[in-house]
Amino acid sequence: MELIDVHGHLVDEMFEEDLENVIANSDENLSFYLTAGVDLASSEKSVSLAEKHKKLYATVGVHPEDVFDLACDEVDKDKLHKLLKLCESKKVVAVGEIGLDYHYLQDKTAEEIEKIKHAQKLAFESQLDMANMLKLPVVIHSRDAMGDTIEILKRNKLERESLLHCYSGSVESAKILMELGFSFSFGGVATFKNAKNVQEVIKFLPLNKIMLETDCPYMTPEPYRGKRNEPKNVVYVADAIARIKGVSIEEVARVTTENAKRMFRL
Ligand code: NI
Repeated sequence: MELIDVHGHLVDEMFEEDLENVIANSDENLSFYLTAGVDLASSEKSVSLAEKHKKLYATVGVHPEDVFDLACDEVDKDKLHKLLKLCESKKVVAVGEIGLDYHYLQDKTAEEIEKIKHAQKLAFESQLDMANMLKLPVVIHSRDAMGDTIEILKRNKLERESLLHCYSGSVESAKILMELGFSFSFGGVATFKNAKNVQEVIKFLPLNKIMLETDCPYMTPEPYRGKRNEPKNVVYVADAIARIKGVSIEEVARVTTENAKRMFRL
């Protein structure tokens, strides 16, 4: 059975002590696995790690929560250029993770909220432009910000079929995003009994729009919820999706692997 983990964070400090072990386990269990940058430093580390390991590929980008690494009132052109240079590596297969995240804004003042949203949108749109220039797909993070995410994606048409990672939006939003050329990846949440919304979306989506991810070291699937996550656990996500859709795990593995190979040209 071939499996691909399309989204994890192998340069996270939680892997520092035994990274070689985690990589060996991933190599043994998976066809390919991707590691995502969240800022300039982790993007650089992701690329150099991917260059050392055959089955590992990288995505580079600045995450909405790390947005001040790239944009404040305007985009830091020098940093954007550094990100662009990183994409020259053959092991970079997408720009990401990038997007919008309004989850932690509740305790901020109106003025702060406006400033943060503005910076997130600037960083998001400038990285969408970069992806189009490089003809790369995009891996998008969107949390509590689906309206603005869709509005920006409608205005910035992408050259390549792209991915909404750890999708937690509604079926309605999924329909719109699918029409815009997006696929969706799911992680540990798909294995949680109470995640009714995600299960409903998985039921609705055709299998050829679905991919598997871990978002490791976080979002650990059942039965290991609460422990550190790693790429090989993507098999539990495949199992959950198979049960939700009423198909075999082999079918989920085969189709999601095909989808990931097509999108990221692996
Ligand atoms: Ni992530």
